[in-house]
Amino acid sequence: MAVETSIPHVGGAPLSGIHPLDPLTGDEIEACAAIVAASEFTTDSLRFVMISLEEPPKPADLDFDLLPEPPRKAFAVAYDGGVKMIYEGIVNLAEGEIETWTPVPGRFPSYLAEHMETVEVVVREDPRWQAAMTKRGISDFDLAMIDPWPAGYYGAQDHYDNSPLICRPLTFMRTAPSEHGYARPVEGVIVTFDMDSMKVIDVEDHGVVPLPPTAGNYAPEFMFDENNRPAFSEFRSDLKALEITQPDGPSFTVDGWGVTWQKWALRVGFNPREGLVLHQLTYADRGRVRPIMYRASLSEMVVPYGDPSPTHWNKNVFDMGEVGMGLMANSLTLGCDCLGEIYYFDGIVNDSLGKAVVIPNAVCMHEEDYGISWKHTDFRTGEVEVRRSRRLVISTIATVGNYEYGFYWYLYTDGNIEYEVKLSGVLTTGAIAEGEKPTWGALVAPGIFGPNHQHFFNVRMDMAIDGTGNSVYEVDSVPEPDPALNPHHNAWITKETLVASEAEGARDWEYSTARYWKVVNPSVVNELGSPVGYKLMPRDVVPSMVQEGSYIYDRARFVQHNLWVTKFDSKEKYAAGNYPYQSKDAQGLPEFIADDAPLEDTDLVLWYTIGAHHVVRPEDWPVMPCAYVGFMLKPVGFFDGNPALDVAPSAACHASAAGSAHEHKDGESCH
Ligand code: CO
Repeated sequence: MAVETSIPHVGGAPLSGIHPLDPLTGDEIEACAAIVAASEFTTDSLRFVMISLEEPPKPADLDFDLLPEPPRKAFAVAYDGGVKMIYEGIVNLAEGEIETWTPVPGRFPSYLAEHMETVEVVVREDPRWQAAMTKRGISDFDLAMIDPWPAGYYGAQDHYDNSPLICRPLTFMRTAPSEHGYARPVEGVIVTFDMDSMKVIDVEDHGVVPLPPTAGNYAPEFMFDENNRPAFSEFRSDLKALEITQPDGPSFTVDGWGVTWQKWALRVGFNPREGLVLHQLTYADRGRVRPIMYRASLSEMVVPYGDPSPTHWNKNVFDMGEVGMGLMANSLTLGCDCLGEIYYFDGIVNDSLGKAVVIPNAVCMHEEDYGISWKHTDFRTGEVEVRRSRRLVISTIATVGNYEYGFYWYLYTDGNIEYEVKLSGVLTTGAIAEGEKPTWGALVAPGIFGPNHQHFFNVRMDMAIDGTGNSVYEVDSVPEPDPALNPHHNAWITKETLVASEAEGARDWEYSTARYWKVVNPSVVNELGSPVGYKLMPRDVVPSMVQEGSYIYDRARFVQHNLWVTKFDSKEKYAAGNYPYQSKDAQGLPEFIADDAPLEDTDLVLWYTIGAHHVVRPEDWPVMPCAYVGFMLKPVGFFDGNPALDVAPSAACHASAAGSAHEHKDGESCH
């Protein structure tokens, strides 16, 4: 079958041949779909969930130049609603052949692209839903926003036996088409929707709660409406222009999806499920290219809500495994999402018919000044040495229903690696009668509350500190245990405990010992004779409020521990399993550690769970200022000293350093 494509050659696609780890091009996505469509496996009701690169095997000796040349292969996840079956296909694009086609019984797929839009249209036509709206005095059904929340798992009630693919749409009412609809949640009306037949199964009505009285708009056209809150009468006018200029251009170079910057090198990847991926992160240390991570990406996220009422109790969305971060990625805009000299990579995903969909500017890359990297003033001579810190930022932002999630990797000139999630967008809301206060949440505006909830993000890092033979140590700081050695009661030591096997591989942070974890290569030592390593510095440690006995407890076991360590297995990529949609069992990490593989001096993977504990505030309304959560990987004996010593003084400092430290004119100091 001939493959026709309308996908133009777009930014981010390689100009000089395709690297084995490059994301699929639009042509390749459509070629994969066409090969499946022409095969014996196709049916009228077969749809494509996700089409992504089938990544080539990791080269055993980490020699990245030895990656196999194409044939390029695609990994297709397809769903046949007619027989309720997921199929996984590996498609050899060069040969035009399907190498494997494997049914995955008993599992449900993440949303197909069309589900997000079509569900709303169908629910609006349903007489039961219309009756519930009429009961609430709502007559203009076209103004309803109906968000298709993933169904979660309810237990084996009648219609969940042999269940179709279902979702649980919730309704919000606008008063004008572009208004902020989440300000008027229709409390207590729960639709159960069959996405196989695209029909409403059931509408539950738990009783009328009045719609909140005030609007919650934030868009300029509504801003100065007297019904709006919080009240303000004009934009502030005293914020002066702040421009980032790099007259000599950025300090990074880009070749296709390959990036080099300040001794760092990596390959950027992108796919419908994970969105942004980093491959083959290395650092060139005095001429030696040293691997640090082979692959890093978000592996799953979940948002469990803590309100037992009918509308909120089973809000437990896995925004990656049930929807897809790449599919939901924003097109980023210069001067708005990113500032300065930006390089953008386009994201290319698929629709359910296998057509390529280009998301222009899905990944943003730029440099940021990050204050000082290091400084010392010699108070006797007045001599000052100070260096600026610079970081490379690679980021993407996904909108999943009401929430925005920004995912940021930062690489620093001093060898640090940081991961940060920025949470913004709009709270999920509930309506409450005037004069009442929510028990399991907080009021954000009259008649509107946000339920208590948490966000957990798990980041999978396939570590490769100077090679694949790595070990993890848990490092605790404790008082000197021998009283004879501690006469002044001031001595303390660090105690390193090997995480020896997967049975010990689920770890928790400990406040009393300032715990951190360290990944080392026992076969490579620094000039002081210690194994080279990186330490994982927890930043936001949030105890999970998910309780045993709840359905979400097993579905999202990854939130129960801060750090999980597993032996590398290319099939183990997602912390809550490949298909968490509508599942009830403990998939993912608990399965991965079940065989208790030994972890010492082996190819291992870190899975770090970041938490955001969200007791909502009025300040989170009507749109949330970014909350920031993340962690840092810091070299610990990886280098033989401060790796940023060789960063040159900036021109201004160099000039002023010629004079005395006390002769700085205002504006010349380098803070
Ligand atoms: Co939140």
